[in-house]
Amino acid sequence: MTLTLRQPSMLIGMTIPATTSELQGPAIRVRGLAKSYQKLHVLRGVDFEVARGSIFALLGSNGAGKTTVVKILSTLLKADAGTAHVNGFDVATRAADVRESISLTGQFAAVDEILTGRENLVLVARLRHLKAPGAIADELLKRFALTEAGARRVATYSGGMRRRLDIAMSLIGNPPVVFLDEPTTGLDPQARLEVWHAVNELAQGGTTVLLTTQYLDEAENLADRIAILHEGRIIVDGTLDELRRILPPAEVEYVEKQRNLEDIFLTLVGAGTDKEQH
Ligand SMILES: Nc1ncnc2c1ncn2[C@@H]1O[C@H](COP(=O)(O)OP(=O)(O)OP(=O)(O)O)[C@@H](O)[C@H]1O
Ligand SMILES: [Mg+2]
Repeated sequence: MTLTLRQPSMLIGMTIPATTSELQGPAIRVRGLAKSYQKLHVLRGVDFEVARGSIFALLGSNGAGKTTVVKILSTLLKADAGTAHVNGFDVATRAADVRESISLTGQFAAVDEILTGRENLVLVARLRHLKAPGAIADELLKRFALTEAGARRVATYSGGMRRRLDIAMSLIGNPPVVFLDEPTTGLDPQARLEVWHAVNELAQGGTTVLLTTQYLDEAENLADRIAILHEGRIIVDGTLDELRRILPPAEVEYVEKQRNLEDIFLTLVGAGTDKEQH
């Protein structure tokens, strides 16, 4: 997933997102979403809601349709059927309002290697016509523990630093809803922890985060709510505790083994199913 709404051409005309305090209801509401690519029915009636200020993890195997959902929610792709509202706006009829309400960070960091971290941030703030881009950049560098690295070219950054900068860039203009498509794929454990920390900070600041992941421990550690997308539908949706209750109690022998999300996922989705749906 390489598309990003931070491409300059897509930023032109963007304004600072409206505050959302007056908007009621969930940050994201998806009903009966369907999408096919020719004969491949990827989404067959997807329903879920994401509460404001929460972290929602969309889990699924390769090809389950996670990126397809994110693309529809971020107005990059049209659904065949169903409705989706983001920040109260219908993605089909209020695309411009949706775009002003969101940021999208794809799997590959969309940062400019030649520029420094700070210059990347200043550039995006300028493109968004914000006042005091330097101050915005400095605040974000501090928030993502990049102050010292801020003056260095991004080419010298580690994967975790790039990803943190990428997320920082997506926050310029304070979008109330943030989509992170596989935010930690390819990162080492330390870098993943750094990204998790950044995502947690976001949610604590009131931002709604929808992330997709194939890492079950990521959903387990980070998400307030977890949904599993399988064969075109959400087959379960709940908190980790609610998901744990789906399975019979853990077997008690000498020690009680706490069910982890991997057990639940593999029981529901089935180990050894085809990776791609056809
Ligand atoms: N533009 C397209 N044309 C045809 N098929 C597509 C297109 N985009 C996606 N697909 C197919 O739709 C299915 C779902 O793709 P999607 O990228 O949404 O899955 P995903 O859950 O994000 O997978 P991954 O975990 O690998 O990122 C896959 O089988 C994919 O090959
Ligand atoms: Mg994907």
